[in-house]
Amino acid sequence: MGSKRTLKLGTMIHGIGGNMGAWRHPKALADASVNLGFYVQQALKAESGLFDFVFIADGLYINEKSLPHFLNRFEPLTILSALGAVTSRIGLVGTVSTSYSEPFTIARQFASLDHISSGRAGWNVVTSPLEGSALNYGKKEHPSHELRYRIAEEYLEVVKGLWDSWEDDAFIRDKEAGIFFHPQKMHRLNHQGEHFSVQGPLNIARSQQGHPVIFQAGSSESGKTLAAKSADAVFTGAETLEEAASFYQDVKARAAKYGRSPESILLFPGIRPIVGRTKEEALQKHQEIVNLVSIEHALNYLGRFFDHHDFTQYELDKRFPDLGEIGSNGFRSTTDKIKQNAKENNWTLRQVALQTATPSSDFIGTPTMVADQIQLWFEKQAADGFIVHSVVPHGLDDFVELVVPLLQERGIYRDEYEADTLRGNLGLSIPVNRYVKEQHTIV
Ligand SMILES: Cc1cc2nc3c(=O)[nH]c(=O)nc-3n(C[C@H](O)[C@H](O)[C@H](O)COP(=O)(O)O)c2cc1C
Repeated sequence: MGSKRTLKLGTMIHGIGGNMGAWRHPKALADASVNLGFYVQQALKAESGLFDFVFIADGLYINEKSLPHFLNRFEPLTILSALGAVTSRIGLVGTVSTSYSEPFTIARQFASLDHISSGRAGWNVVTSPLEGSALNYGKKEHPSHELRYRIAEEYLEVVKGLWDSWEDDAFIRDKEAGIFFHPQKMHRLNHQGEHFSVQGPLNIARSQQGHPVIFQAGSSESGKTLAAKSADAVFTGAETLEEAASFYQDVKARAAKYGRSPESILLFPGIRPIVGRTKEEALQKHQEIVNLVSIEHALNYLGRFFDHHDFTQYELDKRFPDLGEIGSNGFRSTTDKIKQNAKENNWTLRQVALQTATPSSDFIGTPTMVADQIQLWFEKQAADGFIVHSVVPHGLDDFVELVVPLLQERGIYRDEYEADTLRGNLGLSIPVNRYVKEQHTIV
């Protein structure tokens, strides 16, 4: 490739936020999670900051203890279709679970989004950590962590196969001759596997970016392997530069084992920047959010990662309890990290709960301080880009107006979009249709 490496940016549009109390902030829009106007404003703001994509997370089970945003929010593909109609350059990445959906439906829905947006769709592949999801899908039990990843791997093969159902010049639509398509350019997948049986073809063609961009979120051993084999981009929760850099090297090395180049898979840690005119002002904004989260909220928030484990049974100011395997079948990489950090630092339950519910970060400070950290992580190869979470009201607006110009001045971020498609802006190549590839190989 050889061209200069440039920073990529996405933003998580997350309604009233990833914090139990954020909706109560005096400047918060309390119905943001189901407010189309809010989502449109955020998408347009990100597009004005030349972001590569907006990102919509998702989950399939709630109860009384869930984050307010989770209780009442948009379904990802539906909101992204609406955003596709009012934006023109920014990518649209949505989360859909491979444990609770069918590949034919999902291949079709993402291909449709890709056409609606003229090649800007992306799919964040998740395996669903929440055990309760089974109750909403008529399943006897939630599949184990290992099984979910085996299903995901086959699922992705099927979806990618279906996306190649039609060669790019299959639909000739010749009115004179009455020929709508070339039958030899239509392909049946005929997939028969352990978990899926799908004949095809898919009833929609490829878009100008070939396939939607595949993101993957899940950082366990199985998650990293799935990403290395099949994903174009990875969303990670790495919290420190060291952690992010080691994750980065690990995933890129795994990808190399599958014959892939380092540029063909991009690493995106999620970050929670808070920008102030002074460091004190930024810290004050962070504190306002921290103050809105009670310890009861924090225990509920923490509990969700551990299959809604009831943490009120333990003493708050004693050492974080030994939970054995609790959590390992759900958010494994996250719960492993929480347990390990608690042990290494001798943290109490109160400390762990509050830090999980309202994490601090390296990205709080003046615009220059935030830009410095971004540049450092990028140049130290801890990230190819970031997924920016807006954790305080107007967080994204501050980032776009105050931090983006600094990144541009430093020459690490674009001054204009390079391409019309998400793949093009991310510098990812268009996947060649497997059937066309076969023909080339045969000749
Ligand atoms: C950074 C990150 C973001 C995630 N986002 C979602 C999400 O939006 N929806 C979801 O159902 N699961 C999400 N997951 C969960 C994973 O898909 C997976 O089900 C769970 O984390 C267990 O996989 P792991 O142990 O490989 O991380 C996310 C995981 C990580 C690490």
